[in-house]
Amino acid sequence: MEFFLDSSSLEEISEFSEFIDGVTTNPTLLSKVDKPYKTIEKITEIISGPVSLEVISTTKDEIINEIDNISRIAKNIVVKIPLTTNGLIALKYATSKGIKTNLTLCFSETQAVFAAKFGATYVSPFIGRLDDLGLDGINLIYNICEIFNNYNFNTKVLSASVRSTAHVVAAMKAGSDAITVPAKILKQMLYHPLTNIGLDTFLKDWNKSKK
Ligand code: G3P
Repeated sequence: MEFFLDSSSLEEISEFSEFIDGVTTNPTLLSKVDKPYKTIEKITEIISGPVSLEVISTTKDEIINEIDNISRIAKNIVVKIPLTTNGLIALKYATSKGIKTNLTLCFSETQAVFAAKFGATYVSPFIGRLDDLGLDGINLIYNICEIFNNYNFNTKVLSASVRSTAHVVAAMKAGSDAITVPAKILKQMLYHPLTNIGLDTFLKDWNKSKK
């Protein structure tokens, strides 16, 4: 089971490097940094696990060209490809070259099955954006995990667009292989106020008894 940080912030990634298995980025996150590709290179040095970098092309040939270029950045790079028809055709190329991929912007079970059939390393169903429309994002995770088990697909379900620790718990209950979260959610996953309150009490009582 893998926890990824959904971030392009070197500060956030450094702060949580001990607790994450990898990093996912997307064009919106990378639009917030000055030198996106330099930043990605630094992220691949800070984190030894998978680092997802998304293509920005939309045509099959241009996506394939980006797949080649992105995959050369670092050994732990995972090429993120949108789940369009051109993205799926380009995925077949990446799979044939042994390049790790993360098929993103997944909003249906059938999209996920095509990604798995074509050899995606990860597929990223977006929970929060479905919930934003009043749909059931977690149900998509349950269904994809069940379908993948039915066919022994090797593609890992990487739950994304996570808006709460409730989403994290529900995705784990559904059997998601990996979950990517923003720093705010990761902090909530790690810290609990009752732990700190309880520790303070333990130490106060201990120190009192030693006087
Ligand atoms: O980076 C992929 C995904 O986690 C983005 O989610 O909906 O918060 O932009 P969102």
